[in-house]
Amino acid sequence: MEFRENISLKPYNTFGVEASAEYFGVIRQSGELSGLLSWRSPEKPMLILGEGSNILFVGDFPGIVLHNALKGIDLIEENADDCLLKVSAGENWSDFVDYTVELGWGGIENLSLIPGTVGAAPIQNIGAYGAELGEVLVNVEACNLLTGEIKVFSNEECYFGYRTSIFKTTCKGQFLVTSITLQLSKNPKLNLRYAPLKKAFEDRKIQDVDVREVSNAVKEIRRSKLPDPEKIGNAGSFFKNPVVKQLLAEALQKEFPDIPVYPAEAGRVKVAAGWLIEQSGWKGRRFGDAGVHEKQALVLVNYGDATGAEIYALSESIRKDVESKFGISMEREVTVVRKKS
Ligand code: FAD
Ligand code: EPU
Repeated sequence: MEFRENISLKPYNTFGVEASAEYFGVIRQSGELSGLLSWRSPEKPMLILGEGSNILFVGDFPGIVLHNALKGIDLIEENADDCLLKVSAGENWSDFVDYTVELGWGGIENLSLIPGTVGAAPIQNIGAYGAELGEVLVNVEACNLLTGEIKVFSNEECYFGYRTSIFKTTCKGQFLVTSITLQLSKNPKLNLRYAPLKKAFEDRKIQDVDVREVSNAVKEIRRSKLPDPEKIGNAGSFFKNPVVKQLLAEALQKEFPDIPVYPAEAGRVKVAAGWLIEQSGWKGRRFGDAGVHEKQALVLVNYGDATGAEIYALSESIRKDVESKFGISMEREVTVVRKKS
């Protein structure tokens, strides 16, 4: 594998901020990994980069950026009801969803149009419109970046949760995901639990709806709500929706009857961060080229030449305001990459 020096990462992050990588390499074959690991020096940090749609660079990266471009989709098993697909990590997620939808296979149609690579999908257990990757994922194959060993993580070993997995917690930065295996259904049971999706089909019998129609409906809703990174720099939701104790949610509901809340894991309650940010007066505000999207307050945007530091500073001001108004601390969803001091 070849490494180039001092490469601009602007084309490799959907915020479109300027930052450079000291070394930049593209991995196209898993065989290249052993060479990479012998070349790697222990002092140089390494960052695995997919399509940069969930990352904010705050300054240059003083180490090795490895851009994942491993390609391939293999049907490894099938019967009359189900199929197992092994997908290489550098495939584009949204194209892969389209491929399965065209075949009429169900399981990931609600996750249509999510940007990024297949390999990044298990890192935060991507989710949208009432579905999460963890519901169909069989295993994750990953390379240990210290030893070069390949490890297969079963679904349980991934410890998936809302926008989290073992790859964001105890194993953070230690593995390069090389492929994932998913189980999809040839007789799909559609999931129309998410209210706007349910509404799109309210005048239809569910047995008459197919996965392609669900995928198209999801795409339409997404296009109406979320800014397109091709047109305006962003990384989707900047923060996670905070998950709080039932008691706190009840107290907030008394004071703010309109606050949107949803049931979450372990009897807790998810609060809509977009609402908290909007109610704190941040929606649509702009400071230079860094701003809060005018239709979706959970999305921070780069109108042109904002720096990563400016977007980060804006996010911190928002976080502090929300905390002082509602007593809720918002956690970032986006990975912030900066020099260690
Ligand atoms: P990157 O941004 O390149 O990387 C993200 C993190 O994963 C980094 O920490 C990186 O080091 C790590 N990583 C990436 N690839 C690998 C790998 N192969 N092995 C190990 N670590 C790796 N997310 C949702 O869950 N739901 C949504 O609805 C959604 N909507 C979005 C809408 C927009 C407009 C945008 C811009 C983003 C949205 N996102 C959403 C976030 C984003 O699409 C996902 O997080 C996606 O999985 C990121 O993929 P990526 O390849 O761009 O990852
Ligand atoms: N809301 C506001 N003001 C805003 C934005 C939202 O009041 O500016 C309210 C909405 O009215 C609604 C609630 O907040 O009542 C939830 O909004 P929405 O349905 O748009 O979803 P979200 O919680 O903002 C989450 C995910 C998205 C995912 C959608 C659809 C997180 C952090 N975000 O957004 O994921 O696509 O639901 O399932 O969970 C991402 O992770 O990058 C992402 C875009």
